[in-house]
Amino acid sequence: MTEKEKKLSVGVLRESFPGEKRVALIPIGAETLVKAGFRVLLEGGAGLKAGFPDREYEKRGVEILPNRESVCSQADILLAVRAAGANPDGWPHEVKDLREGQILIGFLEPLTARQPIEELANRGVTAFAVELVPRITRAQSMDALSSMATVAGYRAVLLAANFLPKMFPMLTTAAGTITPSRVLVIGAGVAGLQAIATARRLGAVVSGYDIRPAAREQVESLGAKFVVLGLETDEAEAEGGYARAMGEDFYRRQRELLGKVAAENDVVICTAAVPGKKAPLLITAESVRAMRPGSVIVDLAAERGGNCELTQPGRVVVEKGVTILGPVNLPSDIPYHASQMYSKNLCQFILHLVKNGKPDLDSEDRILKETLVTHRGKIVNPRVRKALGITEEGKDSASRGGHD
Ligand code: NAI
Repeated sequence: MTEKEKKLSVGVLRESFPGEKRVALIPIGAETLVKAGFRVLLEGGAGLKAGFPDREYEKRGVEILPNRESVCSQADILLAVRAAGANPDGWPHEVKDLREGQILIGFLEPLTARQPIEELANRGVTAFAVELVPRITRAQSMDALSSMATVAGYRAVLLAANFLPKMFPMLTTAAGTITPSRVLVIGAGVAGLQAIATARRLGAVVSGYDIRPAAREQVESLGAKFVVLGLETDEAEAEGGYARAMGEDFYRRQRELLGKVAAENDVVICTAAVPGKKAPLLITAESVRAMRPGSVIVDLAAERGGNCELTQPGRVVVEKGVTILGPVNLPSDIPYHASQMYSKNLCQFILHLVKNGKPDLDSEDRILKETLVTHRGKIVNPRVRKALGITEEGKDSASRGGHD
């Protein structure tokens, strides 16, 4: 074995999810890994759509390989943006190239997509799902969900501004005064706070709403008004600043009150989410009809059922002059910076996983334990097993191989 072949190798694959423009590792990230003693292999052209040509990788010591098969056959660790359940049509074709003992790191949709996760286990792949990185201080630099939500929050506001028949800022001109647009952001988590900051920078009058009272300070620190409905409660906060699901009575009352607030705004950006659950329904069809024609709703929760009753994932719906957008892959619309952030998250993860040239696969470390989904032929993650209805060894509560 040559010195080169003794090194642990990291392979970067071209994304096959339709419309996906991100790449899992950018040249500067590759350089970090090369300097740390890894061999880095890239499927030629993998970074092109994100703005990173092969030559920039080559300059940083990356080997460019002609196709996916050659990367998969040589790499010990494979990096992807969307794999397994996060690539619903592409995974059956892709998983065939993976082999026993190979490590896969990427977005995998492990809590809902049973069949692809079972297939990874059957093949003996050791898979880490970045969606499961815990929201703890130590893991912040690896938190890919937060990185992508930051990009999505920013992009959502630009999207709204494009559709709105108004300008965002106040302008005093010889042709009269233009009043600023009013933007309401529902859900003040990572995406919501970035949306608030972006809408403020564009000059809108912004308000933010969340059920967690702790969000108030963050919303106000960005110069936005915090909307108080009188329903906010400490009980709504779970570990890591995530929300807890509330009862139907609570949501009904919330919908009534939020409908009135929405009608006073030109733009509503919806980002309310509860981990592992369908998105709460907060804006009813009736509330949409009560908004002024020309108003715009951008529903970031579209993929999880939507916060607005009329949202259709990936579609533009117009109801009584109100435009409702349900974008599903906004980070891919800003692939350069989304890839930069994701690449940083993955590099940190790999450097955390590999100690003295060896991946630490039996670690008791919380970050590694909570993200490890499949290992040595099994689905090993208790949270994933529970979500997929796999109750105990060999006995499943759902039928084998079925999608959730
Ligand atoms: P997060 O968990 O940081 O924030 C969600 C916020 O919603 C939390 O602050 C929570 O307290 C709040 N919330 C929950 N229930 C609520 C309710 N009933 N009323 C008001 N607020 C409520 O999540 P993050 O990372 O900000 O993501 C937000 C959403 O954006 C998620 O649905 C995520 O899947 C989605 N997203 C969509 C993308 C796209 O391209 N469409 C890309 C990235 C994220």
